[in-house]
Amino acid sequence: MTPTDRNAEQSQAAGKAQVLSIVVPTYREAENLPELLDRLGKLRAEKQLDLEVLIMDDNSRDGSEETVAALGLDWVRLVVRTENRGLSPAVIDGFNLAAGNTVLVMDADLSHPPEKIPEMLAALDGGADFVIGSRYVPGASTAENWGLFRWVNSKIATLLARPFTRVSDPMSGFFAFRRSLLDTAAPFNAVGYKIGLEVIVKGGCRRCAEVPIHFDQRHHGESKLSLREQLLYLRHLRRLAMFKYGHWVHFSQFALVGLLGTFVNLAVITLFDGMGLPLKISAAAAIFIAMVFNFFLNRYVTFSDAQPGRLWRQLTAFIAACSVGAAVNYTVVLSAAWMWPLFNEHPQFAAVLGIMAGLTFNYLASRHLVFKK
Ligand code: GDD
Ligand code: MN
Repeated sequence: MTPTDRNAEQSQAAGKAQVLSIVVPTYREAENLPELLDRLGKLRAEKQLDLEVLIMDDNSRDGSEETVAALGLDWVRLVVRTENRGLSPAVIDGFNLAAGNTVLVMDADLSHPPEKIPEMLAALDGGADFVIGSRYVPGASTAENWGLFRWVNSKIATLLARPFTRVSDPMSGFFAFRRSLLDTAAPFNAVGYKIGLEVIVKGGCRRCAEVPIHFDQRHHGESKLSLREQLLYLRHLRRLAMFKYGHWVHFSQFALVGLLGTFVNLAVITLFDGMGLPLKISAAAAIFIAMVFNFFLNRYVTFSDAQPGRLWRQLTAFIAACSVGAAVNYTVVLSAAWMWPLFNEHPQFAAVLGIMAGLTFNYLASRHLVFKK
């Protein structure tokens, strides 16, 4: 069944096309659910919003199920998840169950005001393809005792997301988009907390709107945002960079490692020369040590996504590849100088050309022969 078939089937099941699906990931939020559903219920009645609520609960066993059942609301569904736990996987599962043509995600702890939902929907009607309930646009505010640490933390995380989106609050867990976006989006990767950022990037959202909200203190219980999640965020960013900028990410890391290697080379040659060793030896040592240095950085940083390979085999292959690269560099310098007088007069230009050729060769050989995907 294709996603489109599934859409059609779900809209039929829902009976109407204009349904809003609100996805609420929860873990131990039983105390917050009555107020959340009460406020959503008021919104539903007052604005005549045709909405369904999908509570994606990671088997909290804190009475969430019973609480929701006791309220007996036919527009609310609590889904108990027992596998693949986590905030992002729960939200993604919610996307797949959503019957509405608009999907909205919000937290259960009442830090996201449900009353802002109509304004967010209006932004979608106005042509936005993604709308955020934002803490950082004019008119927005955050509860006062939102600690300094958390504020700084959030600011840094936002800054790191800059290469992917210009919105002021890409970390927000309060956002909405048209369901149809899911049909064309690249597959989501459910790492970490920032599922909104994932949707913006993988969904190719261009017109992002932000609605100011008052981000309230969570009403009951405590935050589940751990240090581990923060570290996952860095991995998430790296994956998004790979998705958006592909080879350029690897190539620029490789080039940067090469640049560092140049400094290592210069340091070694200076040291050995100072010790009175003949150039034949110090130059060779400098090249060799720089190569080994580059090897390790490339193995553990640039190509950390590669298939695991045996250290010695990879090291030998890397040195072999780079020696050929050096030969390529050398050949390009000499041929350029031979062919064009300009390069003969200014060997520095020839050297730059040679370095670029050697670097490209080394990169391709390392990626495809040494650190295979
Ligand atoms: N299903 C499921 N599984 N839900 C989870 C899990 C999980 O492992 N962890 C957290 N949740 C739910 C919580 O129950 C809550 O409804 C929502 O996800 C947000 O979790 P909080 O623990 O309240 O997170 P927070 O307040 O620290 O983070 C919020 O602000 C961040 C920006 O500062 C969230 O909105 C984040 O999405 C946002 O990035
Ligand atoms: Mn919260």
